[in-house]
Amino acid sequence: MAKLKVGVIGVGGIARSHFPGWAASEHAEIVAGSDINPKVLDAFADKTGATKLVTDPKELFQDPDIDIIDVCTPNNYHAPLSIAALNAGKHVICEKPLAPNPSQIKKMIAARDNSGKMLMTAQHFRFQGKSKAMKAELDTGVLGDIYHARSWMLRRSGAPVRPGFILKEHSGGGPCIDIGVHILDLTLWFMGNPRPVAVTGVARTEIAHQKGAWTRMDGGARIPRKFDVEDMAAAFVRFENGATLVLEVSWLLHHNTMGEDMQMWLYGTKGGSHW
Ligand SMILES: NC(=O)c1ccc[n+]([C@@H]2O[C@H](COP(=O)([O-])OP(=O)(O)OC[C@H]3O[C@@H](n4cnc5c(N)ncnc54)[C@H](O)[C@@H]3O)[C@@H](O)[C@H]2O)c1
Repeated sequence: MAKLKVGVIGVGGIARSHFPGWAASEHAEIVAGSDINPKVLDAFADKTGATKLVTDPKELFQDPDIDIIDVCTPNNYHAPLSIAALNAGKHVICEKPLAPNPSQIKKMIAARDNSGKMLMTAQHFRFQGKSKAMKAELDTGVLGDIYHARSWMLRRSGAPVRPGFILKEHSGGGPCIDIGVHILDLTLWFMGNPRPVAVTGVARTEIAHQKGAWTRMDGGARIPRKFDVEDMAAAFVRFENGATLVLEVSWLLHHNTMGEDMQMWLYGTKGGSHW
């Protein structure tokens, strides 16, 4: 069977970690790429063998040979690009978060439903062996009713400083929708996707704007003054089934970790678990 043809949009960053996955697939292959920065297209072609390299993504949408669009741009461009791709009859895999807010995500889902094509978000933690094994165990009901969860993904001095992350016009938000979506997605999946009925939260920027604030990421850098997203967020969620969740996320926090502290504790009527 012929392989499905993939066009990648935004080829200079995380897209590079998608290339080995596509290359390993028996069912699909990268044939094209698009980026607003033409300088990254040559390296993309070298790595993937793609021959169609364009700065305007419309050329990928209009190409009848392309079956799948892999969206790897900063967050604020996910919805318009994915919707245009779905409307053009392509399947879409889109980096997380699907979009920075629910109204854009609803429009993406409507475009998916109208097109009859597939839309998937790249929440890769679900596919780790330990996540799949834990989900299978939880689905046996071993914890009884899960009535409380505590989840966090906390970094100390771990803010990316690329414009696509720290400027709201490109990112739509900070760590809450950057790394927070990873641990939130896993937690909701493990809890059986209960429907949230109330959320109380805070988003703060206490450290990023301090004189001398710096990050270990992106080769080590001062936090740019134009940083305009939160650097920490916390929330308390109540679900329809009575369960509750405490969620904490940060890029910059005086937390006792050198790397990233990502944990989830689930508490049920018969037992508890730690991821
Ligand atoms: N799954 C994960 O763990 C993970 C990790 C890192 C990033 N991401 C997600 O991937 C996305 C991109 O992050 P990144 O680290 O690659 O960012 P990046 O800034 O390093 O790279 C983004 C690329 O997209 C290009 N680009 C920017 N705007 C564009 C547009 N409108 N059209 C076409 N190309 C455009 C840039 O030139 C660059 O090549 C973000 O949504 C981020 O949340 C996910």
